Amino acid sequence: MMKKITIAIDGFSSCGKSTMAKDLAKKIGYVYVDSGAMYRAVTLYAMENRCFNDHQLDVEKLRGMMDNIRISFLFNPETGKPDTYLNNRKVETEIRSMEVSSRVSIVAALDFVRAEMVAQQQAFGKEKGVVMDGRDIGTTVFPDAELKIFLTASPEIRAQRRYEELKAKRQEANFDDILANVKERDYIDQHREVSPLIQADDAILLDNSHLTIEQQNEWLMEQYQLRIEN
Ligand code: DC
Repeated sequence: MMKKITIAIDGFSSCGKSTMAKDLAKKIGYVYVDSGAMYRAVTLYAMENRCFNDHQLDVEKLRGMMDNIRISFLFNPETGKPDTYLNNRKVETEIRSMEVSSRVSIVAALDFVRAEMVAQQQAFGKEKGVVMDGRDIGTTVFPDAELKIFLTASPEIRAQRRYEELKAKRQEANFDDILANVKERDYIDQHREVSPLIQADDAILLDNSHLTIEQQNEWLMEQYQLRIEN
């Protein structure tokens, strides 16, 4: 029986964390958990249950509803990745909408939301054999993870990648707007009071600005091999 470990991948938004995490999980037969999807699902729940008035959140109302929120993941063989479920309803598409994206950082900054999500994330990782990506996985969720990666790329490169993604989907895209959004999210992620985005002392820093997806995957595979060999 090969040793199973815990792999934490943290970093800035739009760095390619989930691409990297998903590819590795598939290759080594681990469970992949997208922790950002969980904060997105709570945000969707809050929107659907009238906790939001435009971008104004009724924090106490959401606090009272936390016990009604169950988030789970189910592997989709068609796409080869897990879909996110909110109270047994598939919400994978809805949680990626602009409406959710523009409100999620408000929800992700709440201490009672984070406490509940961290507990659920720790339960997912109880048996090890998990690759989880997010902002606080190596610092708060799994401080004892055997392999921790902190992923980064320049804001311009990340904006360029998102610009090309939108173009490919024939969606409207303005490079300057995207760049401003990337920088704003970096600022919010790094400066919030609860679990801000910081590199764990024992995380390995990878700047993938000038790496292809294949090169990045190869690098990650080597790091994984090193960890299971000893
Ligand atoms: O990675 P993403 O864009 O799907 O994350 C959505 C939001 O959730 C983003 O505002 C950062 C936040 N987040 C967090 O606070 N902690 C995590 N572990 C993962 C995401």
